[in-house]
Amino acid sequence: MNQADLCSPLLDALKADVGRCLWLLDENSPKLEALPPASQLSLITNRFDLFQHYQALGAQVQFTDFDFTPWQTASLDRIVAIVSKEKALTHYWINQAAEYLKPGGELILFGEKSGGIKTYARKAATLLGCPVEQTKLFAETWRLNLYKQALSNSLLDDQNYAQLRWLEHPELNYFAKPGVYGWQKIDAGSAFLMQTLADQLPLKGRVLDLGCGFGYLSLKAAGPDTLLCCTDNNAAALSACQANIDHYQLQGEVIATNAGAGITPGFDYLLCNPPFHTGFATRSDLTERFVRAAAQLLDAQGDAFFVVNLHIGLETRAKNYFQKVDVLANNGHFKLIHLRQPKNP
Ligand SMILES: C[S@@+](CC[C@H](N)C(=O)[O-])C[C@H]1O[C@@H](n2cnc3c(N)ncnc32)[C@H](O)[C@@H]1O
Repeated sequence: MNQADLCSPLLDALKADVGRCLWLLDENSPKLEALPPASQLSLITNRFDLFQHYQALGAQVQFTDFDFTPWQTASLDRIVAIVSKEKALTHYWINQAAEYLKPGGELILFGEKSGGIKTYARKAATLLGCPVEQTKLFAETWRLNLYKQALSNSLLDDQNYAQLRWLEHPELNYFAKPGVYGWQKIDAGSAFLMQTLADQLPLKGRVLDLGCGFGYLSLKAAGPDTLLCCTDNNAAALSACQANIDHYQLQGEVIATNAGAGITPGFDYLLCNPPFHTGFATRSDLTERFVRAAAQLLDAQGDAFFVVNLHIGLETRAKNYFQKVDVLANNGHFKLIHLRQPKNP
C-alpha cells in the first residue's frame, strides 16, 4: 500500500463533521504530517512511535492494545482503520465497531485486495447488517463504507484477541496473544541466538532486550543476578512480556520505546533479534536505528548480540558504530553477530 496515496483519502475520512470519530492505527498506518482540526477525533494505536508522533501533533491519542473500555458502547459516530496485516486484529476491530458504533454509525476501512479487503467487506456487512459501499481508490487499494444497522449474532473470529494466554512449548512456557510478533512459536533465529550463548547463561548484570516481543530472549537469559530491561514498540508485546517477567519472578522492567530511544545507557549485555520491517518504514532504516541504539546504550565493556537472517548486511552497518564486529556463528539460515566497544557518538 502506498503511504502517500492514502493520506488524502484518510484525511477525508477523519474530517470533523461526523461527530465522535475514532481512528485505529497499527503498524500499517502512516504518520500523517497534520490531522484535521477535530475536537471529537480520538486515536488508539498499539505502536509507540505512532503514539509519540500523534501526541506531538496534539491529537487525543492512546497507546494501548486497542482497549475500547474508555468509550461507551454505541457511542461512536465513525470508526476508521487501514486493515491490519493480522487477520485476528482486523476481525477484532470489526467486532468492536459492531459494539461501539451508534446505530447508523459508520465504519470506514481501507485495504488492498491482496490483503483480503473484499472478504472483510463481506464479513463486516454481514455483522453490521448493512450494505457495503466499495470504492476503488487506486491500483489495488479500496475503501469500504458501512453504516451499522441490525447486528447479526455471530461475531467474527478474532481469536479472542484481547486475552493473553498461557502457551506450553517443549522449551519454554509463556504468555502471549495475537498481535505479538510470532506469538504462537519460538522464533528460530532467537532460539539460535540463545543456543549459541548457552555456555554464558545466565547473564549477569544489566541486560537490554531490544525489541523484546513476549520476552523470549529475556526469559532464557535471566538468572538471579540479572537485571532486565525489556523494551518494544508494540503494546501487545509489552503486556505479554510483563506477564512473563511477573510469572517467572524475574528482576527488571518493561518499557515502551521506539528502538530504545530514551533508555538509560550502560548495559552489560544487549540481546536483539531486530524487526525486518515496520509499516511504511524501510527495513534498512530500522536495522540502522537498532544498531545505532545498541552503540548508544551498551557499556564501553559490554557485549551486544544480534541475530539476523544471512542476507541482512548488519555487519557493514555495525562497523560505523562499533570497533569490534564479529560473526560468532552461522547455521545456514541465521548468523549471530557480536558487537563490542561502541565508537563514541
Ligand atoms: C523479530 S521480533 C523479535 C521478538 C523477540 N525478541 C523474540 O525473540 O521473539 C522483533 C521485535 O521488534 C519489535 N519492534 C519493531 N519495531 C520496533 C521499534 N521501532 N522499536 C522497538 N521495537 C520494535 C517488534 O514489535 C518485535 O517484537
